[in-house]
Amino acid sequence: MVDVLLGLQWGDEGKGKIVDVLAPQYQVVARFQGGPNAGHTLEFDGFKHVLHQIPSGIFRPDALNIIGNGVVLDPIVFRREIDGLAKFNLDLHANLIISKKAALIVPTHSLLDAAYEQAKGAAKIGSTLRGIGPTYQDKVARQGLRIGDVLSPNFRAKYDKLVDAHKAILDRLNFDYAVLAESEEKFFSAVEFLKTFKLTDSEYDVNNALQAGQRVLAEGAQGSLLDLDFGSYPFVTSSSTMAAGACTGLGIAPRQIGEVYGIFKAYCTRVGSGPFPTELLEETGERMRAEGREFGATTGRPRRCGWLDLPALKYAVMLNGVTQLVMMKADVLNIFDTIRVCTHYQLPDGTITDQLPYDLCDTDVVPVYKDFKGWKTSLDGIRVFDSMPAELAGYVSYLEAELNLPISFVSTGPDREALVHREAVGV
Ligand code: GDP
Ligand code: IMO
Ligand code: MG
Repeated sequence: MVDVLLGLQWGDEGKGKIVDVLAPQYQVVARFQGGPNAGHTLEFDGFKHVLHQIPSGIFRPDALNIIGNGVVLDPIVFRREIDGLAKFNLDLHANLIISKKAALIVPTHSLLDAAYEQAKGAAKIGSTLRGIGPTYQDKVARQGLRIGDVLSPNFRAKYDKLVDAHKAILDRLNFDYAVLAESEEKFFSAVEFLKTFKLTDSEYDVNNALQAGQRVLAEGAQGSLLDLDFGSYPFVTSSSTMAAGACTGLGIAPRQIGEVYGIFKAYCTRVGSGPFPTELLEETGERMRAEGREFGATTGRPRRCGWLDLPALKYAVMLNGVTQLVMMKADVLNIFDTIRVCTHYQLPDGTITDQLPYDLCDTDVVPVYKDFKGWKTSLDGIRVFDSMPAELAGYVSYLEAELNLPISFVSTGPDREALVHREAVGV
């Protein structure tokens, strides 16, 4: 079976930590979409490590890690990531496979990202500028390069053709690409480095593993509210971040999907532009940001913070067919006297609803809140549900009842060990 683990909010829910925790139960860990826009943080044994394109099972020596066909891969970032892993003495050439069908990010893709954002002015998406949108755009336009192309004797010609097309766009947008020569040098050297890894038709690797009875964990990037179809469009990323994306992004049949782990923070954050109904623009938001160290793992940008948004969470649970929930960063709420949860939205005409309106960007919704008493105590060392403060247990039970799903884990700190695990649900 393939179990899927994905973020239910606007990304940065803590996917990296939980994939790392679950990985020992799986023989294969695979990324199915996104690329270097992702930043997945793992903390263990006093180390803090951020992965961007490499799956978060990489620190578990028995797991095969696959970068699936749905991913967009930047060879320069890849090389940097591999270099960053050197001190861990992992056998990366044995434990990591890259799909030949994954899309190749070339240096002009990031320049195009920047040029499009500049042209949008105040309406910019707040992209990570890693070239994600333009690379997926080329894929959909059927003109992009794939990882397998680096093995072709005509690679340089294919590259030049694509980059000439990109330069024409950059010229039209009056965007200076003088930096390109330097990036190209790094790029071609990184491509040679990439070629030393196993580049395969990884859909066979995944399906052969399944045939052999192995367990596969599919690791999502970004989150459901950044999904291209169902997120707060156009303030989204350019891939399918949903459970369905695991099928197209790895080459697995829908009936192979088993558990769907949906991860959410005990509150909400968002990086970049776009609607955020429960955003806290005053001191409470500042305190949440400081307490949760809410700064982007990829770009270092401050994350916008706000209370938990149940209508949005219910929507994500519905679309993904979530079977188990994982609540992250409960410890960040230790400091608050009152913890609020948005249960409904009030629409401009006065209607109260728990459904997401068609266009959250152009509809001013007012959150309707339910207040909970804070627990105001440290969660350090708590490992079982029964030892949780009563107020936190009440918060968890309330969310389980509202979402009609078990919360299998409650995370209480960045470290691998800081986790409350509910045995009763049989995980
Ligand atoms: P991802 O993109 O979903 O993997 O999440 P990120 O790594 O971008 O952001 C999550 C951040 O929260 C990282 O800095 C983690 O180390 C940290 N983190 C994860 N779980 C917890 C937790 O339970 N409590 C606290 N305080 N931090 C956590
Ligand atoms: P992980 O996997 C949080 C956001 C960007 C921007 C929008 C589009 O770490 O959860 P893009 O670069 O994809 O064109 O940016 O999506 N974004 C993320 N926000 N976590 C991420 O990944 C993100 N990846 C993209 O900030 O608003
Ligand atoms: Mg992240």
